[in-house]
Amino acid sequence: MTQLQIFLDIATEAALAAGAVLQGYLGKLEDAITEKGRPGDLVTAADKASEAIILEILHRHFPQHSILAEESGQLGNQDNEYLWAIDPLDGTTNYAHQYPAFAVSIGLLINGVPQVGVIYDPFHHELFRAGAGLGATRDRRPIKVSETAQLSKSLLVSGFAYDRRDTSDNNYAEFCHLTHLTQGVRRSGSASLDLAYVACGRVDGYWERGLSPWDIAAGIILLQEAGGQVSAYDGTPLKIESGRLLATNGYLHNSLSQELMQVPPLSAWK
Ligand code: IPD
Ligand code: CA
Ligand code: CA
Ligand code: CA
Repeated sequence: MTQLQIFLDIATEAALAAGAVLQGYLGKLEDAITEKGRPGDLVTAADKASEAIILEILHRHFPQHSILAEESGQLGNQDNEYLWAIDPLDGTTNYAHQYPAFAVSIGLLINGVPQVGVIYDPFHHELFRAGAGLGATRDRRPIKVSETAQLSKSLLVSGFAYDRRDTSDNNYAEFCHLTHLTQGVRRSGSASLDLAYVACGRVDGYWERGLSPWDIAAGIILLQEAGGQVSAYDGTPLKIESGRLLATNGYLHNSLSQELMQVPPLSAWK
């Protein structure tokens, strides 16, 4: 077994354990939901319990590695070759409302590059896994991206960051523009599932701003291993900490990038 396969298996163990925690809390949160500061930016007892079990498993197996986890922040040396990027509950708002679109997302960056990714949707019992050079799977079967090559035939997905109320750079104009050019744009509320759905061909492309590494590290390697492409909006190489991501089946990459570079202002629709 290669080192990457070991990382993938331990990440899977952690994601499944965390998924069981999420299933256990679902519908039973009562008053264990608070706002992090921004309106609508929720955190629950389930986020924290899920993160605790992931941290315990990763610390036990890889005590030398560093971790960046949504609820705990940076743990260990920032310059570590190995950095786990963890979202213990991606789709907290959905989860709090019992809307079934949420997941555990665990990615491993080696020297800053996503190399291992596990995304687990415990409500639908769907397990997405990938390792660099090892391929991408859903429930242990290989997956690949769609072959849709025209925007007019595509279905896209996007999302809105929590700071959308404080900024005009809130993705509303992009969402509106692309809704008119495609067969539709969905908003799932879970960035990791958005990437997983591009990887398995359920949607053809995804873009979003305001993302954190824990939202997308696992999904990036999953999509790449499924034959897809990731970049900045303008097509240049992705910087994961930039928060902006364009992710497609590859066939649509240039046209979607071009459209994101020439979005009319919202006032054009009035
Ligand atoms: C959020 C979800 C959502 C995306 C937000 C994320 P959280 O993560 O991924 O789809 O639009 O930008 O912050 O807070 O539910 O883990
Ligand atoms: Ca998230
Ligand atoms: Ca989260
Ligand atoms: Ca959150």
